[in-house]
Amino acid sequence: MILVTGGAGFIGANFVIDWLAQSDERVVTLDKLTYAGNLGNLSPVRDDARHVFVRGDIGDRALAERLLAEYRPRAIVNFAAETHVDRSIHGPAAFIATNVVGTFELLDAARAHFAALPEPERARFRFLHVSTDEVFGSLGPHDAGFSETTAYAPNSPYSASKAAADHLVRAYHHTYGVPVLTTNCSNNYGPRQFPEKLIPLMIHNALAGNPLPVYGDGGNVRDWLYVGDHCAAIRAVLERGRPGETYNIGGNAEMTNLEVVNALCRVLALQRPGRDYAAQINFVRDRPGHDRRYAIDPTKIRAEIGWAPRETFESGLAQTVRWYLDNSAWLAAVTSGEYKKWVSLNYATEDA
Ligand SMILES: NC(=O)c1ccc[n+]([C@@H]2O[C@H](COP(=O)([O-])OP(=O)(O)OC[C@H]3O[C@@H](n4cnc5c(N)ncnc54)[C@H](O)[C@@H]3O)[C@@H](O)[C@H]2O)c1
Repeated sequence: MILVTGGAGFIGANFVIDWLAQSDERVVTLDKLTYAGNLGNLSPVRDDARHVFVRGDIGDRALAERLLAEYRPRAIVNFAAETHVDRSIHGPAAFIATNVVGTFELLDAARAHFAALPEPERARFRFLHVSTDEVFGSLGPHDAGFSETTAYAPNSPYSASKAAADHLVRAYHHTYGVPVLTTNCSNNYGPRQFPEKLIPLMIHNALAGNPLPVYGDGGNVRDWLYVGDHCAAIRAVLERGRPGETYNIGGNAEMTNLEVVNALCRVLALQRPGRDYAAQINFVRDRPGHDRRYAIDPTKIRAEIGWAPRETFESGLAQTVRWYLDNSAWLAAVTSGEYKKWVSLNYATEDA
């Protein structure tokens, strides 16, 4: 059995669904169900006897201890986090509470559990911490992509909180011998992503006939990876990764935000014709401290783990748009009144 935290969120839910589709090993999901967590994300496994859902906080030490004692998972996969950079600018405290203190509590519970395990359970145990490429800061236009030895230089409260967690995870390996693995992945997209992030926000607005808000000049570059490829990479690192190592995960798909939005408008025009979606693009005031470029050098995970993405940006985007079109009830359910207030606070127009 494995314990997955944050499994009701975007990547965590895709991970749990893919896991149970590919293996008979049971899963306990621990999730606080913040605004970003949604039990509807786990609806494909709702009646699956191999899955247990527990609502709770990774920072609740007693709960983590109880789950570890009761289920004796062979691995913990830690997705739980506050994840939206813009929210971290407006309110960083929740990011410190979950991403730093919460990860610490979970890690420390894992340390105590690991220390008491008999062999062979002890030899098999892993703590896989899911992190981001944002911990490395921003690249210039011609810099090489981030590798595992790139120095940390986080620029937002979000990336700083993830960096702090990564350091704790590293220290727990060096100090206590906890068999940790850390993955630092580039921007994900795909089904079940909360529509505050670029691609689902644009799909939602495009379909509603609303403006498509692009930050600044639209020239910020991200390296995009389909969520199913990220989940496959995490499974592969869990099986074949060397404890104490970090692995960068990326899709070799660098694109500016404007290129992404234009590509999306083209896919929408094919799948839901009838509107000039690109005419809805609207440039808005840039995010403070907006990192200009992220890119991943995936050499290590390819050579050592043998993982490579299966989807291209085009194939992944087509599947993503199809999913949002087929799941309009999901989109309507998560875009509540609170969501609308947040969008108007965050995407002020240039002259607002
Ligand atoms: N989305 C990306 O592009 C991306 C890229 C690289 C890495 N990551 C990392 O992957 C992980 C998952 O990202 P996501 O995009 O799925 O995020 P998400 O915001 O969609 O989901 C986060 C989940 O964590 C849960 N959660 C939040 N605080 C919690 C707490 N204290 N205890 C228990 N559960 C809690 C939420 O309810 C939610 O279900 C994060 O650690 C993130 O830093 C994301």
